[in-house]
Amino acid sequence: MKRTWDMRNDNFMKVFKYYKSNKPKPSLEAVISVDNTNFSNEVKIISQVVKDDLRAKSLGLEDVSKWEIFSSNNNPGFIIIKNPFTNLGQRYWMRKCLEEYPRKPHKRNIDIDKPVDDWWAECFKSGVCDRKLQKKLRWTTLGYHHNWDTKVYSEENKTAFPLELAELCDVVARTLGYSTFKAEAAIVNYYHMDSTLSAHTDHSEVNLEAPLFSFSFGQSAILLLGGHDKSVKPTAFLLSSGDIAVMSKEARLCYHAVPKILPASIHHWNNKDMTCSSNLGVEFKYIVEDDLIKEMNKNLNMEEWSKFNTYVEESRININVRQVLNENQNSLNDQSI
Ligand code: SIN
Repeated sequence: MKRTWDMRNDNFMKVFKYYKSNKPKPSLEAVISVDNTNFSNEVKIISQVVKDDLRAKSLGLEDVSKWEIFSSNNNPGFIIIKNPFTNLGQRYWMRKCLEEYPRKPHKRNIDIDKPVDDWWAECFKSGVCDRKLQKKLRWTTLGYHHNWDTKVYSEENKTAFPLELAELCDVVARTLGYSTFKAEAAIVNYYHMDSTLSAHTDHSEVNLEAPLFSFSFGQSAILLLGGHDKSVKPTAFLLSSGDIAVMSKEARLCYHAVPKILPASIHHWNNKDMTCSSNLGVEFKYIVEDDLIKEMNKNLNMEEWSKFNTYVEESRININVRQVLNENQNSLNDQSI
């Protein structure tokens, strides 16, 4: 018997529409802000599995021992690390997402309309910012490129995954006890103040046991997290700049969506405290520490930073990173595992 989806059961959609609405504006009272004590029944603090990682500072992160990590009581497996980034670290990652990641050979939504090699440079080609072109970029994919039509990854549709992002994910994953996690695919989403992302699950990866790491920068967002079908009423979480959301275990295959972007209440990336210290000589897995520090420090210069600042003052950037392959699998063609 063919079953049709009864819209009346779509509790996810009802909540999505509620938060998306501008008239009337939704109440934000139930949106969980993990570090607000009003929500201490909804979340609990969990501790780091690995308490120290000397790579953290050079990657723009605070000491791992200082991170505040929350898990959701209603959504097991859903974790939020409350902004573990330094202020300068936020600038570094925002800039990567704007200047480098949308460059070829990475894939972008603009490839059909406007196949420019270097989107960011093209936006400033005439000397003034081409705001129309700037607004056109909605996503960039890295590593194994997400195929939006078939939702199937392939070896033919793959480019090198950025090493600094792989290193960042390695630090975050190890801190949470996922020592074998390997970053192999990412989608960078670019949101404007009126953007939304509809309900979906991320299930294209061969490996559905590995967690998904989702980094937020710039303006804030409401993230809805539901269950394995859309009848489950989702919980609303506030994601602010620097927060890392982790979908692991039972939460890995749950429906989620972004119904609203909200103005950020704190602009960490413009906070006066821009110190950058590092532990020169630390062993990294994928990158050279010196290069990373040089790039990080470029963003201390206000003249260099200001173009990126203008963008993030009215946008949100989300990087979500997945492991595609099973452990010990070298490619999608390797079926022996
Ligand atoms: C996604 O699920 O693809 C993005 C979620 C977010 O923007 O926080």
